Amino acid sequence: LDDLIAEGVQGRHVLVRADLNVPLDGDKITDDGRIRAFLPTAKRLSEAGARVVVTAHLGRPKGEPDAKYSLAPAAARLGELLGAEVALAADVVGDSARSVVGALTDGGVALLENIRFDPRETSKDAAEREALADDLVSLVGDKAAFVSDGFGVVHRKQASVYDVAAKLPHYAGGLVLAEVEVLRKLTEDTARPYVVVLGGAKVSDKLGVIANLLTKVDRLLIGGGMAYTFLKAQGHEVGNSLLQADQLDQVRGFLAEAEKRGVELVLPVDVLAATTFAEDAPYEVVPTDAIPADREGLDIGPKTRELFASKLADAKTVFWNGPMGVFEFAAFAGGTRAVAQALVASDAFTVVGGGDSAAAVRQLGLPEDGFSHISTGGGASLEYLEGKELPGVKVLED
Ligand code: 3PG
Repeated sequence: LDDLIAEGVQGRHVLVRADLNVPLDGDKITDDGRIRAFLPTAKRLSEAGARVVVTAHLGRPKGEPDAKYSLAPAAARLGELLGAEVALAADVVGDSARSVVGALTDGGVALLENIRFDPRETSKDAAEREALADDLVSLVGDKAAFVSDGFGVVHRKQASVYDVAAKLPHYAGGLVLAEVEVLRKLTEDTARPYVVVLGGAKVSDKLGVIANLLTKVDRLLIGGGMAYTFLKAQGHEVGNSLLQADQLDQVRGFLAEAEKRGVELVLPVDVLAATTFAEDAPYEVVPTDAIPADREGLDIGPKTRELFASKLADAKTVFWNGPMGVFEFAAFAGGTRAVAQALVASDAFTVVGGGDSAAAVRQLGLPEDGFSHISTGGGASLEYLEGKELPGVKVLED
């Protein structure tokens, strides 16, 4: 982005891919972290006099317009934060988009409607994606520049992330650059002890990342729903807790690999075991070797919180992804809060991997500046740590 601004963008159209995929409750944004993270790039381009055309997605619509997935709330919030109206086109590359882009003046910012309303965006057929990329180029003109700032989506080989970059002079936005620099610190010359805390519901979402992290970290702390598959693999009974029985062999393999490599794998020693999955469910604290058959663990218990905090105390690098329990229910948010607090108290280089854990940090009212970095990428940061190539970054490097 520095290079592009230095070249001069006054009066030039700049197409920017942002990740404005924010959680909504109806049309109310419940966490605007991703919009705020995009703000510096939007501001810099606007202040430099560019005509900024933003493209983004929201959720996973089925390749056709669907009001539920409109970017209208994001356009309104971006406008509020910028202090200037952000016009929203009613379509992606149609008449409305052409008229909104045509009406832009220097320094103006416009947003195209959800790019995933066009089925070509996510098509597996490269020719279809290229056709959409060509439509985007004809919208902004072939003298335009492309800025990739949607870090949360750089792991997707999609038209507005990947294909369009090859058709215009392309630049990394400030957010993509910052995120990649942080993630590099987690994979190269990492300060030790390097401790990773993983949570969230399903171990199957994290197989690749666990396999790769076991070759890199000193300690791996596992909480959240996925911990029960590990506990079961160790021979514990987990009652009605979340269990992915089809992953037990895989998890046994991880336990053996950790032992072989001298990685300390730390599992919960107690949990809050509830009678049902509900906000006000009665629960008791039980050790993980005595979870009653009719109960389900909804959070890590107090001894585990202390144990995890002690395992984080001497860390020099920490990556955390995934809540420790059902943090959306106040009664079961304590474990996630305790891990977040341990990170805030730590002198280590601390990175929160996007998605639910970033939302949890903000929802629990923890200071965002208490962490070295809160990533906007959920899947993107995990795929990076898995050692996978991110197509949206690769295309910029090329
Ligand atoms: C995310 O929420 O992780 C990004 O916006 C990517 O969304 P996707 O998983 O639907 O591609």
